[in-house]
Amino acid sequence: MSRMSLHSATATASPNIALIKYWGNRDEALRLPSNGSISLTLSGLTCRTSVTFEADLPQDSLSVNGALEPKANTARVSRHLDLIRARAGLHLRARVESQINFPPAAGLASSAAAFAALTVAAAAAAGLDLPAGEISRLARRGSGSACRSVFGGYVEWQAGDDDEHSFAEPLAGPDHWHLVDVIAIVNANPKGVGSSQGHRLAATSPLQSARVADAPRRLDLCRQAILAREFERLAAVSELDSNLMHAVMLTSQPPLLYWLPATLAVMQAVVQMRASGSPVFYTIDAGPNVHCLTPVESHVAVADQIRAVEGVSQVLIAHPGGSAALA
Ligand code: PMV
Repeated sequence: MSRMSLHSATATASPNIALIKYWGNRDEALRLPSNGSISLTLSGLTCRTSVTFEADLPQDSLSVNGALEPKANTARVSRHLDLIRARAGLHLRARVESQINFPPAAGLASSAAAFAALTVAAAAAAGLDLPAGEISRLARRGSGSACRSVFGGYVEWQAGDDDEHSFAEPLAGPDHWHLVDVIAIVNANPKGVGSSQGHRLAATSPLQSARVADAPRRLDLCRQAILAREFERLAAVSELDSNLMHAVMLTSQPPLLYWLPATLAVMQAVVQMRASGSPVFYTIDAGPNVHCLTPVESHVAVADQIRAVEGVSQVLIAHPGGSAALA
């Protein structure tokens, strides 16, 4: 890891797809999750962020793909930089420039990639040399799922009881098992209700306590299926977990319905494909787009079938990806 100069650094990070979902916080301010989660970091979709702390800046600024971001987004980044500034004893404001090569805020975990890249870049720019677990803890404060994007491959976020013990760890590297995420884009526009607000609603669903109580069992099943590369067991527990999270969303007050008709069409196509012998399962984050996971040998055929589903505007292909890193 080389640093560009004392007060400037660039880092890249990729989103991740959760196989066991994080939904709901036990402590919102610290982003301590109600349950642990497991994900796969994705390659090809990348967020590249440069952070420059400068003496004469009146305030922090944030641009994404060359355009200055609205105040609310910049304020969230500022709060995250404050954590890093406090840790480094630094008082300078920063210029943050991000390039994202996939649709942001459409349930493709752009905030995970964004806050993982921001944390790695800002920590280096501030002169901090932190172990990956500490970077993961810090990234968690920006966006919970970002703590998982610090690592590549298959990753588990230990919920932990407090700030110190809530961070992600690698379960298996990207080369452990070549699954492919065939992402059915049914709507690339930013979603109406972001996940930060969604987490707040989780506790209003009468189903959330049952979902959380059963999470350790699902985490065990998922971890074992990944380590043993057992596709059918992974498919069963991942679809169950995704359905449970969406059941909580649907039964929150007010209810959250992220699906579009094409979302359901893709889910049905996936179930149908599996019934006819193709190894594939779906999982959906906080948005209408559907992630279809399949072994690499089957991904071309699966992608062809997904592309043919009415309402699918685009199919993205993502392979297991590496960890966040200085560029
Ligand atoms: O990290 P957040 O606050 O964007 O929440 C992510 C929530 C889900 O994507 C729906 C699930 C997950 O574990 O990634």
